[in-house]
Amino acid sequence: MTNYFSKDFWWGASSSAFQVEGAWDEDGKGKTVADYNAFQKSDVQADTRVASDFYHNYKEDILLMKELGLKAYRFSISWARIIPDGDGEVNQKGIDFYNNVIDFLIENDIIPFVTLYHFDLPFALVEKYNGWESRDCAFAFERFARTCFEAFGDRVKHWQVHNEQNLMIRVNIRMNMYDVPSEQAEKVRAQMDYHMFLAHALATNACREMLPGVQIGPAVSSTMTYPSSNRPEDVWAARMNDNFKTNYALEMYCFGEYPGYYKEYLNKCDIYPETKPEDEEILKASKPDYIAVNYYRTLVASYLPADEAHPFGTKKNDIDFDLYGYFKIEKNPNLEVTDYGIQVDPTGLRLLLNDYYEKYRLPMIITENGLGTGDQLTEDGKIHDDYRIEYLENHIAACNDAISDGVELFGYCPWSVMDLLSSRQGFMKRYGLVYIDREDFDLKELRRIKKDSFYWYQDVIKNNGLN
Ligand code: BG6
Repeated sequence: MTNYFSKDFWWGASSSAFQVEGAWDEDGKGKTVADYNAFQKSDVQADTRVASDFYHNYKEDILLMKELGLKAYRFSISWARIIPDGDGEVNQKGIDFYNNVIDFLIENDIIPFVTLYHFDLPFALVEKYNGWESRDCAFAFERFARTCFEAFGDRVKHWQVHNEQNLMIRVNIRMNMYDVPSEQAEKVRAQMDYHMFLAHALATNACREMLPGVQIGPAVSSTMTYPSSNRPEDVWAARMNDNFKTNYALEMYCFGEYPGYYKEYLNKCDIYPETKPEDEEILKASKPDYIAVNYYRTLVASYLPADEAHPFGTKKNDIDFDLYGYFKIEKNPNLEVTDYGIQVDPTGLRLLLNDYYEKYRLPMIITENGLGTGDQLTEDGKIHDDYRIEYLENHIAACNDAISDGVELFGYCPWSVMDLLSSRQGFMKRYGLVYIDREDFDLKELRRIKKDSFYWYQDVIKNNGLN
C-alpha cells in the first residue's frame, strides 16, 4: 500500500474531561450536567467521581502517551473546574491543574489539542436559567473561553470549541431537558442549539482577537447515510438524514447561517429560535480553520412520508431519530455490527472525508474513531484486542485513501487513549488503547495495562502509517 501520510501527520489520541478525570468535586470544581446525569444512573463508582482517575494519575498517563509515541493529545477542559458555577469566580486550582497537564505534555513533546466543551455544562447554570436555553449562557461560555485563551493560549495553539453539538442537542439528558413538557421540547431544543452556535462563534472570534494565528474549529458527530434503495425518494431521504444530523451544523459553523431546508423546518414547526440582529455579524465572522470529525459508523435511510398523526416533526429514538416527511433509519445488511449496534464501515469514512472536503475545502482531523466493546483481561495479564486493531487498521487505511483522493487530513486521534467512562455503558464498554483495571462497581487499583492495540498503534506511529 502506498503511504500518503505526511511526515508531520498528527498521530494522536483522544479523551474528555468528565470521562477520564474523576475528582469531580476536588479542588473547587463545580458539579456539571455530566456529573448530575452520571449520579442519576449509579450511586457507586461507575460515574464521574473516579472515572479513570486521570486527575491524580496524569503524569503516569502522559508518560504512557509518550511511550506510545503520540504527537498530539486531544482532551477537554472542564468548564466547572475553571469557573465552578459557570459565570462567577475563576478557580485558580482548576487553572493550575490544566497548566500542569499542558506543561507535562509539552515537556514530553506531545501537542496539547484542547476542547472547550465536551458535554459538561456547569450545573449551576442549569439551576440559574436552564443552561443553553438562556442567551446569557452563550456569553458565560465566551467568558470561560477567554479565560482559557488567557491562561493557556501561550502554549495551546489548537483549540476545539464544542464537541458534537449536533449530537448532544438531540439527547435530552445532555441538554438538561429534564422537566421540559414534550410539546415544548422542540422549541426549547432549537433555542438551545442556536445559543450554542452563538457561543461557538463568540469563542471563535475571541480566539482570533486574543491569539492571532492560532487554529480553532468545531468537532462534529459525523453522519454518512446510504439510501435504502435507488428510489429517488430514498436517495433524498439519505441526503436529508445527513443534512438534519450534521450538515446543517457545518453550514452554520462555516457560513454563519442555517441552510434553506433547516430554516423551512424551523418555520414549519413554528420553532424558529429568537435571534438578535447583531448576531449575524458574529456568526458570519467565525468561519473555522479546520473541521474535526468524530466518526464511528454509517447509517441507511428510507423516505418516511408525513401522515396526519405526524404532519411534520421528529419521532425520538434517542440519537437516531426519524423525521416524518423526510427520513427513517434502517439497518444495513451489508455491514458488520458491533456488540453495541454500530455498523462498521471504513469506506464510509473515505466517502465522508471526500464529501466534507468538496463542500467546505477545509483541512480536517479525525478526533474520534474507535471500537467500544467489553475487553477481557487474560490470565497472562494482557488484553488481546485484535478486534480493535482490525477496526483501527481499516479506518486508518480509509484515511490514507482519502488523502490519496486529495483530502487535506492533518491528523488521526482514536477514541480513546485509555479506557474511560462510556456515556451510557460505564466501564462495560471500553475504547482505550490502555486498559484501566476497574469495573463498574469495583475500583480495584486502577492499574494501567497496555493492550495489544497500544503496541500495534505504537508501530503505526513509528512507521508513519500502515506497512
Ligand atoms: C462520542 C462522544 O459521541 O462518542 C464521546 O464524543 C463518547 O464522549 C463516544 O464516549 C462513544 O460513545 P459511547 O456512548 O459509547 O461512550
